[in-house]
Amino acid sequence: MVKVVVLGAAGGIGQPLALLLKANPLVTELGLYDIVNTPGVAADLSHIATPAKVVGYLPPDEGLKKVLTGADVVVIPAGIPRKPGMTRDDLFKINAGIVRDLATGIAITAPKAFVLVISNPVNSTVPIVAEVFKKHGVFDPKKIFGVTTLDVVRASTFVSEILGDLGKAPSISVPVVGGHSGVTIVPLLSQSTVPLPSGFAKSDLEALVNRIQYGGDEVVKAKDGAGSATLSMAYAGAEFAAKVIKAIKGEKGIVAPTFVNLASDKASGDALKKEIGQDLEYFSAPVELGPEGVVFINPLGKLTDYEKTLVQAALPELAISIEKGVSFIGSSK
Ligand code: NAD
Ligand code: LMR
Repeated sequence: MVKVVVLGAAGGIGQPLALLLKANPLVTELGLYDIVNTPGVAADLSHIATPAKVVGYLPPDEGLKKVLTGADVVVIPAGIPRKPGMTRDDLFKINAGIVRDLATGIAITAPKAFVLVISNPVNSTVPIVAEVFKKHGVFDPKKIFGVTTLDVVRASTFVSEILGDLGKAPSISVPVVGGHSGVTIVPLLSQSTVPLPSGFAKSDLEALVNRIQYGGDEVVKAKDGAGSATLSMAYAGAEFAAKVIKAIKGEKGIVAPTFVNLASDKASGDALKKEIGQDLEYFSAPVELGPEGVVFINPLGKLTDYEKTLVQAALPELAISIEKGVSFIGSSK
């Protein structure tokens, strides 16, 4: 039995994500929560002939408490998206408070659940969830994750486009490490499971890295004021959630890229800090998952000189964003 809850379930990501979770045969209960429209979304999804029982709640009458009761996995896509000209950090002002309040609900009602944070800025919202859990004395670094899967999905797609064969995309895997915004998104293209064409020019490589780092902006610009990536994010979020659910059910060898607290596995977290040369509290990397959460944080491995400069360029912004999330909870009532 696996209960998955989506907080922000009526939104641009929330609805297609809920659809994909309803289609996952391992999900037996799907709880939907938003400040609007969840009864309708739940009624609609509940007619799909798959195992998950769907329930939808709104804030009145302790809706958050009800939806979170018995949750194994909580996915959070609640919050406002970007408009052209905004950075993800511009969302902090509104989304930090939303994520804090939802995390408080989780800490009280479902403190043992796996928490998958989609709401931006991820580099700050993940520390916010962790600090709320610490305040409530229920912090387990193994179970809080920033969802960075979309960066990995984009890397696979863009590499397959360069190879002129979209059919290869599902078999292409590129580790994307660091964080989830601009220069903190570091694709390790030298480790792509399908190599780039031989003689791929340095300028083309830089353009590809830039496209992966700013793929979100590409969508924000194309949507022209109507929000940011929703459908590709729902796909990526469902893919990550599916891996988490398999790990909870005891499947071995599940590895997923995600932004985690480096204390979640002390030995591999400390080794990663050594590799990057900085005592950061959070970093995204491919992580091995088990029934209790993080089992092992994979090392970055052999990097090219160019990749080493990308990792170093990511660190200052990452440190600032992490601290911003941590101190927001320290200073908020
Ligand atoms: P959206 O505006 O379409 O949907 C957000 C939903 O959150 C809305 O339905 C809204 O009612 C709900 N909401 C707001 N406050 C809430 C609260 N207190 N409790 C419950 N629900 C609440 O936005 P979207 O396009 O779905 O994007 C959501 C977030 O995901 C944004 O912050 C966006 O930047 C982020 N995002 C992250 C990634 C990633 O890779 N991690 C990718 C895409 C988008
Ligand atoms: C993305 O990468 O698409 C998301 O983080 C949304 C955004 O604001 O770009």
